[in-house]
Amino acid sequence: MRRRLKCKRRRGLRPLLHLRFRYAKARYMIKFQNITKIYPPNTVALNDVSFEVEPKEFVCLVGKSGAGKTTLLKLLLAEEKPTSGRIFFDDQDVQKIKSGHLPQLRRKIGAVFQDYKLLPSKTAYENIAYAMEVIGASDSEIARDVAEILDIVGLTERTHNFPVQLSGGEKQRVVIARALIHRPEVILADEPTGNLDPYHALDIIRLLLKINEFGTTIILSTHNKEIINSLGKRTITLHEGKMIRDEKIGRFIL
Ligand SMILES: Nc1ncnc2c1ncn2[C@@H]1O[C@H](COP(=O)(O)OP(=O)(O)OP(=O)(O)O)[C@@H](O)[C@H]1O
Ligand SMILES: [Mg+2]
Repeated sequence: MRRRLKCKRRRGLRPLLHLRFRYAKARYMIKFQNITKIYPPNTVALNDVSFEVEPKEFVCLVGKSGAGKTTLLKLLLAEEKPTSGRIFFDDQDVQKIKSGHLPQLRRKIGAVFQDYKLLPSKTAYENIAYAMEVIGASDSEIARDVAEILDIVGLTERTHNFPVQLSGGEKQRVVIARALIHRPEVILADEPTGNLDPYHALDIIRLLLKINEFGTTIILSTHNKEIINSLGKRTITLHEGKMIRDEKIGRFIL
């Protein structure tokens, strides 16, 4: 109790100092601590996985089909619960976040999953605007931010196209734009190049690199050997739920 009072006083008097103290303590942004995930009755999707991700890192996640990549990303989003272990995001224990506060967590995390479909009856602009409408943004905020994001992803000329009028790569860029709209701290991209030809795949990777240069942390899961080998970024390899490699400059070895 005494400690809590002391802390409260410090926060009241010197908010900035307190903030600095907090960040000095946690260098990592994301921490997986001995995470095991078993889907009932007995599928071990992740087996005692531990790693940390620092702010602004670009991390590739590789592994054969069924290795546990999507499960790992869903656990971070609190879409699935670990069977054991703990996950921290910005010093917060993800499992302890009350369901009412989950939208705040998810706004800090931009998710680019293959099954996160665009709404077919809305244009590129409207698909992104919709994500802002649901959190009550004003019309002027929406107009400003959506135009800016469409410019960042190089789709200004496709603003009023419906998904059916966009190529696969362009659609994926709208999905990334939609994930960027809340200015997330991290983007989780689950096989974002899976359905694309090599040219468009490269386009998406370049876009993720650009977003990373702006300061957003990226976790990219991919099967694409060429992408991993040419990126030369930190690579975590999963094999049957186990983390078998974590290399600073990764190569694709399965
Ligand atoms: N909701 C679920 N219920 C039961 N088992 C599941 C569920 N989701 C995934 N699994 C199983 O957990 C394991 C890991 O699946 P996951 O989707 O995480 O793999 P992945 O590495 O993303 O594979 P892929 O490259 O094919 O997308 C697989 O054996 C899968 O069958
Ligand atoms: Mg997957």
